[in-house]
Amino acid sequence: VKKAEVLKKNFPQTTLSEPCHAQAEAFAPTNIALCKYWGKRDHELNLPLTSSLSISLPEKGAAVKLIPAIKDQIILNGHTLTSDTIFVRRLVAFLDLFRQQQKWSLTVDITMNIPMAAGLASSACGFASLAKALNNLLDWQLTEHELSIIARLGSGSATRSLWPGFVEWHVGVRTDGMDSYGEPLDHAWPELCLGLAIMSDAIKPISSRDAMRLTVETSTLYGAWPTQVNQDLRSLKEALHHHDFSLLGRTAESNALAMHATMLSSWPPICYALPDTLTTMQKIWALRQQGLELYFTQDAGPNLKLLFLNQDANKVREHFSGLEIVKSTIGLSSSLTLAK
Ligand code: PMV
Repeated sequence: VKKAEVLKKNFPQTTLSEPCHAQAEAFAPTNIALCKYWGKRDHELNLPLTSSLSISLPEKGAAVKLIPAIKDQIILNGHTLTSDTIFVRRLVAFLDLFRQQQKWSLTVDITMNIPMAAGLASSACGFASLAKALNNLLDWQLTEHELSIIARLGSGSATRSLWPGFVEWHVGVRTDGMDSYGEPLDHAWPELCLGLAIMSDAIKPISSRDAMRLTVETSTLYGAWPTQVNQDLRSLKEALHHHDFSLLGRTAESNALAMHATMLSSWPPICYALPDTLTTMQKIWALRQQGLELYFTQDAGPNLKLLFLNQDANKVREHFSGLEIVKSTIGLSSSLTLAK
């Protein structure tokens, strides 16, 4: 109800429109938070309790094609999904926000080159690409900032997936969330690399939505989280400004560990790590002691994202066979296509 009201009041064109093109396409990159979003002040509008800061992975994300059809059909990586999956239900609920007055249906054809629901932000790039493609199909003529607000209604972390590079999601203070959107930070850092250490692409035991709620409601450590986030945001911006990689890595790693410690102190406890996750962490800490500037971050899943500079890429590769390495910033162009 709240979502529909916010849209009607602030973006009236989105609730009145019908498809006006034969098809529309859009791509959105996935993003990895260096300072995490964990905890909502409004569960329906996905309004956060703190700001957060991420880096988009330009080669990883979701490309979506929308084609008007007689009935809804959701295709993911070439397979038609049945309507009982959580992904389809969330996606259709999102589409329904924009067709309360008019009834129209779509074939939604999504190509994603990341594992689904394994803490690699598939919902972030999914909803951001959908918001962009709907903007094209329905001629809303909204700016990226506005689309970031709309993408947030699908998934919180999608707020930051409208741009390549570094993006800050402003917490905002308004109850309608109109000041809670993403903002690209004007810092290119082409030497920065991310390595995807995939432990498992199994569906996570608890959704980030449920886990966030449980953490905020029961964790004895949650009170300390907003203070840590404010400090970490300051440190990350300083690190970006001075290209201080040690500061960036240290801050991102300690932010992720604090988030997971907070989750562990919830009841019932939430633990996304698998034995392999801990072994990999220990390996990273040992390599760092030996002088390799290597850090990690972890989201709502067991996989780790390694952070290092291009100059160390070969050394990192030697220690982590099969590691998929993604350059973080390939310019700041928005005309990105999905690398197959
Ligand atoms: O937007 P969601 O519900 O997928 O939550 C994302 C939460 C984290 O990935 C763990 C942190 C973040 O800021 O992306």
